Amino acid sequence: MLGSATAWAADSANDGSSQPDHLAVTQSDFGQTPDGEKVQRYHMTNANGMSVDVITFGGRIQSIELPDKNGKSTDIALGFDNVKDYIDHSSVYFGATIGRYGNRIAGGQFKLNGQTYNLPKNNGPNTLHGGTKGFDQKVWAAAPIDTGDRVGVELTHFSPDGTMGFPGNLAVTVRYTLDNDNDLRIHYSAVSDQDTVINLTNHVYFNLAGAGSGTVLDQVAMINGDRFTPIDKTLIPTGQLKPVSGTPLDFTTPTPIGKHIHADNPQLKYAEPDKGGYDFNWVLNTQGNLDDLAVRVSDPQSGRTVEMYTTEPGVQFYTSNFLDGSFKGAHGHKLGHWGGFTLEAQHYPDSPNQPDFPTTELKAGQKYTQTTVYKFLPE
Ligand code: GLA
Repeated sequence: MLGSATAWAADSANDGSSQPDHLAVTQSDFGQTPDGEKVQRYHMTNANGMSVDVITFGGRIQSIELPDKNGKSTDIALGFDNVKDYIDHSSVYFGATIGRYGNRIAGGQFKLNGQTYNLPKNNGPNTLHGGTKGFDQKVWAAAPIDTGDRVGVELTHFSPDGTMGFPGNLAVTVRYTLDNDNDLRIHYSAVSDQDTVINLTNHVYFNLAGAGSGTVLDQVAMINGDRFTPIDKTLIPTGQLKPVSGTPLDFTTPTPIGKHIHADNPQLKYAEPDKGGYDFNWVLNTQGNLDDLAVRVSDPQSGRTVEMYTTEPGVQFYTSNFLDGSFKGAHGHKLGHWGGFTLEAQHYPDSPNQPDFPTTELKAGQKYTQTTVYKFLPE
């Protein structure tokens, strides 16, 4: 299951496939990077037969096994089963921790305290997901977590001043934990020794029918957001907040993802000019309240549902418009257009250049925090 016995392959004797039916976390090898850095996998299980795997390369969610309404489990997170594939297909960011700045910064440039900072451009004229070598490409230090009612892994990473052009030495911690309510909680914190900007998120792709099983067009989404941030043709926000009402972006009531995906709408054309697809930031009505439902997506066939709760003001809902079936993911599955969707809890794209958006500035010595919960049903 873990590929051939090359330097890339993880130790298949330790593939984490045993499924204790209680809260537990185990650790195994997941191969190494070309530089010889060892990568670990943390395998969390709960009493409902659910499991989550996190790897230290990119702080990524590698797999989420979730039973359907009949108790049949499948992996609902798009991923790879070896480090080499994660490196070779880095632009899809499967399951990755994204930093220092999730989504786009216009022109690879921003001003802070009167100084201009230049970042590597890796998405046309813009910087995407922290630049050419973001947190998704780093091997994070890790330690298991077991609090009695939650298990998981704590990941830490030190990002030196000037990394990818961003100011400040930044110390980052990401805690993934699972409980018996099927809550996968991601808690981020960070401190910088200089004023900087930060926007951390996770880029897991879900396909509630199972990764590689086809498209997500029949899965039904509710996004608790009355407005979105319209974009230009390079997917940079114009600075406005516009109502979703009357547009194909209106998911305020549960709507199949594919229902309006082919609509002749200029915003949709910017997101995906040919086949149709979503790639937008919704302004959440929840206003950072972690108790309020931000997003719910359900698969009527399997009965599986994911809900998202977050302290963030926005969510990037992206329908894997850049997947084209040209490579295989874990389990040997081909991953095509619309083969998954992401729910990237975030501050709005390009906030460092948008004075009217909620700020992404982090002052020297202050603590940045972000919490996002993905809750899975059935329990
Ligand atoms: C985000 C972006 C998309 C795309 C993916 C990664 O969702 O908004 O445009 O870059 O990440 O492929």
